[in-house]
Amino acid sequence: MIGDSTSTPLWRKAFKGLAALGITGALFFAIAFGFDASAVRVFLGLTPPLDVPYVGTRPATVDTMLDMAEVGPSDHVIDLGTGDGRILLSAAQERGAGGVGVDLDPVLIDQATDAAASAGLTGRVIFLEQDLFDTPLHEADVVTMFLLPSVNLRLRPRLLEELEAGSRIVSNRFDMGDWRPDDVRRVGGYEAYLWIVPAQVAGSWRLDVGESSIPLELEQSFQDVQGTAAINGQIQLFTPVLRGDRLRFSLDLPGGEQVFDGLVDGDQFFPADDAEWLAVRE
Ligand SMILES: C[S@@+](CC[C@H](N)C(=O)[O-])C[C@H]1O[C@@H](n2cnc3c(N)ncnc32)[C@H](O)[C@@H]1O
Repeated sequence: MIGDSTSTPLWRKAFKGLAALGITGALFFAIAFGFDASAVRVFLGLTPPLDVPYVGTRPATVDTMLDMAEVGPSDHVIDLGTGDGRILLSAAQERGAGGVGVDLDPVLIDQATDAAASAGLTGRVIFLEQDLFDTPLHEADVVTMFLLPSVNLRLRPRLLEELEAGSRIVSNRFDMGDWRPDDVRRVGGYEAYLWIVPAQVAGSWRLDVGESSIPLELEQSFQDVQGTAAINGQIQLFTPVLRGDRLRFSLDLPGGEQVFDGLVDGDQFFPADDAEWLAVRE
């Protein structure tokens, strides 16, 4: 018989075609993304769709980010989209911090976990296969990220709400829209950004100093604050400086200019030194 016994069955041809297509696609992605195995895993459906593709932060940038955030042994770092964990591992190894790194790519999480074990950091750092949007942030002293502008903006309301005043956020390469960074440094051709979460100070306050009780009105846009004080029937405009929970401004009082430098804790603003005044939110 001619034909049937020597010809390839249709299912086999289809299988070969699909395999070839898959391999070609994977190679295309690998080349397009700089031989990034993570992108190949996404293409092959081995990793859930990512909000940001994997690209590692360069070591010099990792150092700069940790410097900017002044990461130290008492800090709990949350590394959003941790990749191979290099930022958190460096925070633990070089600065003595602890923390959690989350990523959706299980292979990268395994890699980071193995690296932590080899470095003797098991227990100090933990890597979780978890969506960064489902990760609670309130325990972080420092949040580190190398994501995308749109992802940073989606995270912004939660960063402002969940993190304590004074917590630091560092981002490789991308900013957070109109939230002005507290520091920007250029390293390896790209910017690294730092934000310090500001205390919520907007509203009406009463400042008691000596015999005076002065009504204050504060307006706030992130860490930028403007205020007015009603002193002896006169409205005085002043520009406070807010960094985390530390607020500082000066007022022209009848006895001369007085500086108010203190800490905001909820509805109280009290001196950072032994000065005698207190402001309470009304
Ligand atoms: C640009 S890489 C940064 C990796 C690492 N942080 C670094 O700087 O070297 C972004 C990482 O975010 C992860 N990622 C993307 N979307 C995510 C999501 N929704 N939840 C958690 N991780 C995500 C990716 O798998 C990737 O590892």
